[in-house]
Amino acid sequence: MSDIGTILAIPGDGIGTEVVAEGLKVLEAVSKKFGFSFTLKEALAGGIAYDKTGTPLPQKTLDMAKESDAVLLGAVGGPKWEDLDYSVRPERALLGLRAELGLFANLRPAKVFPELADASTLKKEVVEGIDIMVLRELTGGIYFGEPKGITKLEDGTERGVNTLIYTTGEIERIARVAFETARKRGKKVTSVDKANVLECTELWRKVVIKVHKDYQDVELGHMYVDNCAMQLIRNPKQFDVILTTNLFGDILSDEAAMLTGSIGMLPSASVGGKCGMYEPVHGSAPDIAGQGKANPLATILSVAMMLRYSLNCLEAADAIETAVASVLKEGYRTPDIMDDKGQLTGTAKMGDLVVKALNQ
Ligand code: IPM
Ligand code: MG
Repeated sequence: MSDIGTILAIPGDGIGTEVVAEGLKVLEAVSKKFGFSFTLKEALAGGIAYDKTGTPLPQKTLDMAKESDAVLLGAVGGPKWEDLDYSVRPERALLGLRAELGLFANLRPAKVFPELADASTLKKEVVEGIDIMVLRELTGGIYFGEPKGITKLEDGTERGVNTLIYTTGEIERIARVAFETARKRGKKVTSVDKANVLECTELWRKVVIKVHKDYQDVELGHMYVDNCAMQLIRNPKQFDVILTTNLFGDILSDEAAMLTGSIGMLPSASVGGKCGMYEPVHGSAPDIAGQGKANPLATILSVAMMLRYSLNCLEAADAIETAVASVLKEGYRTPDIMDDKGQLTGTAKMGDLVVKALNQ
């Protein structure tokens, strides 16, 4: 039996624990089916880590992640921790893991399962067949730029600052990932910036054009972010790979997610370092946490991405995706994707059904 490596599970907060449990259930099943083994470890991050250790990203978690081949993360954050200082908010754990693991490339696919085309708030004919990959730069830009912070002014008011920075090197490496990704898909990259206003993204556009010279087989287009937000609603089928900055990618990936019917369906992969990190795009959803209502499919599909991008188990990844499609085809639905013909299904049952479909 071949060993595929060490996987670190970080369930985190809210529905994170519920959906990661289902992801691991499916991982276990797929490993049996394909005859591979793995070492599973678990660590704390987010609000739960803050409560237990006083920091959202304990050094131990970071060390364990660095020694792993892949991290499967649920979600972090919740109202309980919203009043904490920025430096210890649960979200810091995510940013810290991304930065420390060197995960500069975030892949967020938005693909519509045919069975869910009706679940979108947009018309079926607009969303049917969309297959978009949002590629978000993840360790730079305004999320990390210095100076940042809130300072007091002499008149007693305050001044808040964040800084948008990108260097040539940072743009080049993410652009290469975009072109390489597009080569394996629809061979089209739309680079999204705000080059009409922000100098930093004028550089972004210039560098992307330069890198494109090495990828003449891929079509390159540019779009301002406001227009892209509009085009995603107007005609999403025009997109293949959307290449963009950290902040724009945060926003556009939520928008693209919603085209698919539910953000509860979308997986993500963060790569660039030795250890990749895989997580559902949805957050910790504190409003439904602990009720067994969460959709675990985004996490289960994140396990598939983990097997494909970090652990080189392509067949197993395909099998999980096929199993998810067949469960949807049979009509099983968590509340977020429920329709009049669907069969209402809870979190754990959905995991069981995917396992069953895998073994069929
Ligand atoms: C995401 C989230 C995070 C981000 C938050 C929770 C820090 O919105 O992964 O998209 O802004 O990157
Ligand atoms: Mg986000």
